[in-house]
Amino acid sequence: MKDCNFKIAQNEPIARGIYKMILEGDTSEITASGQFVNVRLDGFYLRRPISVCDVEPGKLTLIYKTVGRGTEAMSALPEGAGLFVLTGLGNGYDLASAGDAPLLIGGGVGVPPLYLLAKELVAQGRRVRVVMGFNTADEVFYEKEFSDLGCEVTVTTVDGSYGKRGFVTDALPEEYSHYYCCGPLPMLKAVYRACAGSGQFSFEERMGCGFGACMGCSVKTANGYKRICRDGPVLKKEEIIWQD
Ligand SMILES: Cc1cc2nc3c(=O)[nH]c(=O)nc-3n(C[C@H](O)[C@H](O)[C@H](O)COP(=O)(O)OP(=O)(O)OC[C@H]3O[C@@H](n4cnc5c(N)ncnc54)[C@H](O)[C@@H]3O)c2cc1C
Ligand code: FES
Repeated sequence: MKDCNFKIAQNEPIARGIYKMILEGDTSEITASGQFVNVRLDGFYLRRPISVCDVEPGKLTLIYKTVGRGTEAMSALPEGAGLFVLTGLGNGYDLASAGDAPLLIGGGVGVPPLYLLAKELVAQGRRVRVVMGFNTADEVFYEKEFSDLGCEVTVTTVDGSYGKRGFVTDALPEEYSHYYCCGPLPMLKAVYRACAGSGQFSFEERMGCGFGACMGCSVKTANGYKRICRDGPVLKKEEIIWQD
């Protein structure tokens, strides 16, 4: 875990209410897809957790949705400004279980961490399929980016204004070797019910400290209580106990 002062190289909208931020700085602590960072914003006591969408040495990409005061403030930050970001948080996805033909399922701002995962899986020679769900056409992002990696991509929208009408669970292929899922809680639960076989789920719980000190993100699992920020955000299917 390392608190680094990054420089904002880009901070632009890529879909309705969705921004892509490219940061330049020390990315050495980011070691796995599925990890997240915690962004410090002036005037806010708590940092905001955002998933690692992509990383290269010296360059970090985040994609975030403006949902409240913190992310609104983030969207107003100009290019060239400095930003303190706590890096190297969370466990990340387990790639060893992926098999030959993994399926990646993302909903809304649950899609970004799947990008780095897809990149890693494609580099390992696996045939990657992606199903990504949004509410409506103007919220869709990163379809081309996943296709350019060589993934087979299906997009769903709830109102049918783009891609296949419905939810991600209406567009799941019958066969896959393992699945990875990230998105809002109702989507995670629906995918858990709909998907047979082994899988991993990435949780985006509300957080306090973000690095294991406050227990604010603690959830009950089949292996005892776990802190989503430190022992997650990725949990294996078999250890999940849904609270309601
Ligand atoms: C591990 C992790 C990874 C995340 N990755 C991303 C990401 O890649 N991109 C992205 O856009 N967001 C991501 N989030 C969610 C993001 O942290 C919140 O949207 C953000 O902190 C909200 O801050 P705010 O000040 O704008 O909103 P607030 O003023 O704090 O809240 C505004 C509204 O958003 C809701 N909200 C706040 N936090 C969350 C949350 N974690 N989940 C669902 N609803 C929330 C609140 O209930 C409220 O209705 C992630 C969260 C976690 C824990
Ligand atoms: S947010 Fe503090 S322990 Fe997880």
